[in-house]
Amino acid sequence: MTKTAVILGVGPAEGLGAYLAVKAAEEGLHVIVSGRTQTSLDAVVEIISSSGGQATGIVADATDLSSANTLIKKAEAIGPIDLAIYNAGNNFPGNFLTMEAEYFENAWRVCTLGGFVFAQATLKAMLERAAGTLIFTGASASMRGKPNFAAFTAAKAGLRAMAQSLAREFQPQGIHLGHIVIDGGIMGEKVVTAYPKFAEIAGEDGLIGLTGIAEAYMYLYRQPRNAWTLELDLRTHKENF
Ligand SMILES: NC(=O)c1ccc[n+]([C@@H]2O[C@H](COP(=O)([O-])OP(=O)(O)OC[C@H]3O[C@@H](n4cnc5c(N)ncnc54)[C@H](OP(=O)(O)O)[C@@H]3O)[C@@H](O)[C@H]2O)c1
Repeated sequence: MTKTAVILGVGPAEGLGAYLAVKAAEEGLHVIVSGRTQTSLDAVVEIISSSGGQATGIVADATDLSSANTLIKKAEAIGPIDLAIYNAGNNFPGNFLTMEAEYFENAWRVCTLGGFVFAQATLKAMLERAAGTLIFTGASASMRGKPNFAAFTAAKAGLRAMAQSLAREFQPQGIHLGHIVIDGGIMGEKVVTAYPKFAEIAGEDGLIGLTGIAEAYMYLYRQPRNAWTLELDLRTHKENF
């Protein structure tokens, strides 16, 4: 049975989720691409299939607990999950004084609670085999707060803290945990569409490249169990940090 990779948080083809899916397929895994939009998933499945890889699209909402649990069950039915990536986590900027509690809560639901549900279901499956890699996508907000980013920072820092706890609990049981801090904007459809001028001025070296990011995840995936990395941080050489 072919091993599977599950990527939750796959959107446009020129986006991180899609690049992670393509790279995971190149590792010989049957990739389960998951997000909320069937057409986006179909496009990524087509990219992988047309280059000889295996992929299946499954619609799931990370904040809907039963939907995320069903995703893991369906993936396991296709093949044992060897790589799982929690990539959902839109940016949630907002003025703190006027922010509704619901907005703050939604940031936490997408970035943190979704990661918990995904991790719990994935770990239960992986622990039966005492093998597998589970990686979470972080952002600058995972490491430090900034004005107008209280909701996003609280949520992403929570996800990072959870990843650290899981590493200490489950690595001794054979599961590799990873957290990747993407410290800056990504040169992908999200930034190019929302901030075209900014993307143009930043240029290829001013935003983080999708291929390099996706390769970092696969580097963690390929590590032998006697040399595991928990966290990587990625930024362009131009980043002032
Ligand atoms: N873009 C950047 O500049 C940047 C910078 C630093 C860190 N990051 C991190 O990188 C990750 C992904 O980045 P991205 O959003 O820019 O691009 P992406 O990987 O291309 O897209 C992620 C996709 O996740 C899906 N998604 C969102 N909420 C979901 C939910 N509740 N359940 C299931 N799927 C969901 C969305 O597609 P649907 O709407 O179709 O579901 C979204 O397009 C996030 O964790 C983000 O925090 C991004």
